[in-house]
Amino acid sequence: MFEYEVCIVGTGRVGLPLGLSLVDVGVNATGVDLDENLRNAVNDGRMPFHEPGYDELVASKKFKIHKSADGIVSNSAAVIITVGTPLHNHIETDLSQIQRVLEGLKTHFRKTQLIILRSTVAPGTTTYVKKWIERHTEFTVGEDLLLCFCPERIAEGVAYKELRSLPQICGSEEDASRDAAGELFGKLAPEIMKTDFITAELVKLFNNISRYINFAVANQFALIADNFGANIYETRRLANHDYPRCNLAMPGFTAGTCLRKDFGMINEWSAYPDMLLSAWKMNEFTPAMLVEQLMERTPIHDTKVAVLGFTFKKDTDDIRDSLVPKLCRYIHRQLPLELRITDHHLADPIDEPSASEPIKNWAINDALEGVDCVFVATNHTGYGDVLKELGKTNPEVWVADIWNVGGIDQIYYQAGQLVGEKVSQ
Ligand SMILES: NC(=O)c1ccc[n+]([C@@H]2O[C@H](COP(=O)([O-])OP(=O)(O)OC[C@H]3O[C@@H](n4cnc5c(N)ncnc54)[C@H](O)[C@@H]3O)[C@@H](O)[C@H]2O)c1
Repeated sequence: MFEYEVCIVGTGRVGLPLGLSLVDVGVNATGVDLDENLRNAVNDGRMPFHEPGYDELVASKKFKIHKSADGIVSNSAAVIITVGTPLHNHIETDLSQIQRVLEGLKTHFRKTQLIILRSTVAPGTTTYVKKWIERHTEFTVGEDLLLCFCPERIAEGVAYKELRSLPQICGSEEDASRDAAGELFGKLAPEIMKTDFITAELVKLFNNISRYINFAVANQFALIADNFGANIYETRRLANHDYPRCNLAMPGFTAGTCLRKDFGMINEWSAYPDMLLSAWKMNEFTPAMLVEQLMERTPIHDTKVAVLGFTFKKDTDDIRDSLVPKLCRYIHRQLPLELRITDHHLADPIDEPSASEPIKNWAINDALEGVDCVFVATNHTGYGDVLKELGKTNPEVWVADIWNVGGIDQIYYQAGQLVGEKVSQ
C-alpha cells in the first residue's frame, strides 16, 4: 500500500495549484521541489507567488513539499511530473529538466504506479519517457507501470477555477493508463477526454500556438493600421461587430513561459520560415514597433520615460519571458535622460535574469512625476485611472498604450486626451 495517493514533482506555477486543488477535493497529495524558498513558503502556509483562490488551502498546511524524492515517490500511487520544459536559445526543445527528473526518480518507481507527465512537451516526448523508463528500470510501461500524458491547460491567475472547469485530456497507448489517469483527474475535471500520447501532446501545443498566432495577427494588423494612419481599435471593433466569421484579438505584448516557447516545439521540425516562425517574429517585434511608432510622434532621446508594468501579463507577479525587459532595452538605445520602471505586483528591486543588476522598481506616482512619455507595457488593473490622473496634471505627456487601458481606442495619445484636456499634438 502507498502512503500518498499523489506526489507532484515540480511544484511551481502549475504543480502547486494542482496539488492544492487535489487536496481541496480530499486527495492525499504531497510534493517534491528543488527550490528551497518555494518549499519554505508553502510549508509555512504561504503562497510563494500570486495565484488567487489558494491562500486558505495553503494556510491549512495539508500540502507539504519535500526536498528529496527519497521515501516520498516510492510511497505514492501516482507521480505527476510538472517541471519546466524550456527551449534552448536556439529553436530547440530543452529536455534536460525532464531527463534530470527521470534520473532522480528511476530508483523510486514502484510496480503498479501511475506516472503522469503534465509539463508541456514536444511531440514524441511521452514516447521518449516510456522508452527511457524501460531502458533504465526493470519495468515495462503498460504492464508494470502506467504512463499517461495529461496536459495542463490552465492560465495563470485562474488556476483554481480552471482546474475544476476545463476538460482533462488523458493520452496514453493503453486503456489501463488512460483509465487510471481519468479516475484521478475525474475528481477535479468535469470531463475526461481519452486519447493517445501524440494527440494529447499536440492538443496542448495547438491550444497555445493558435492563441500565439491569433495575437501575432492582431499585432501585425496594428502595425498595418498605423502605417495607413488608421485606428486599430476602431477597425477591429467594426470588423468583429455582429460579423460571425471574424474574431480579431486585441494587439498586445504576447509572451510568457508558455506562449513564447511552445511554438518552437513544433517549429524545430521545419527547415524553412513558416507561419509559426512569422508569428514569433511578429510578437517579438512589438516592443520595437512601439518605440519606433512613438518616436514618429515625440522624441525619446533626452526625455524622461516611465514604463508601467513589468510582468508578462495582467495582474500577475510572473516576469518569466516577459517582453518588457526587451522594450526597456529598446528605450535605453535612444538614450533617454531617465527610464523609470514601475510594477506594484513586484518587489523592489526587480531581479530580472537578463539585467546586469537588479532594477529599481519605482512607486507609480514617483515614476510618473515629471515624465515626458509613458509606455503601458502590461495592462494591470488600475493603470487606466492612473493615466487619467496624469492627464489632469500633465496633459502633454505622450503615452504608448498598446493595451488600450486608457479606453480611448488609440495606441498613441497624449495623457490629456483621456480627460478632455487641450493638448498641443
Ligand atoms: N505557468 C503556466 O501557466 C503553465 C500553464 C500550462 C502549462 N505549463 C507548463 O507546465 C510546466 C511547468 O511550468 P511552471 O510554470 O509550473 O514552471 P515553474 O518553473 O513555475 O515550476 C517548475 C518547478 O519544478 C521544479 N523542479 C525542476 N526540476 C526539478 C526536479 N528535478 N525535481 C523537483 N523539482 C524540480 C522547479 O524548482 C520549479 O519549482 C511547463 O512545461 C510549462 O510549459 C505552464
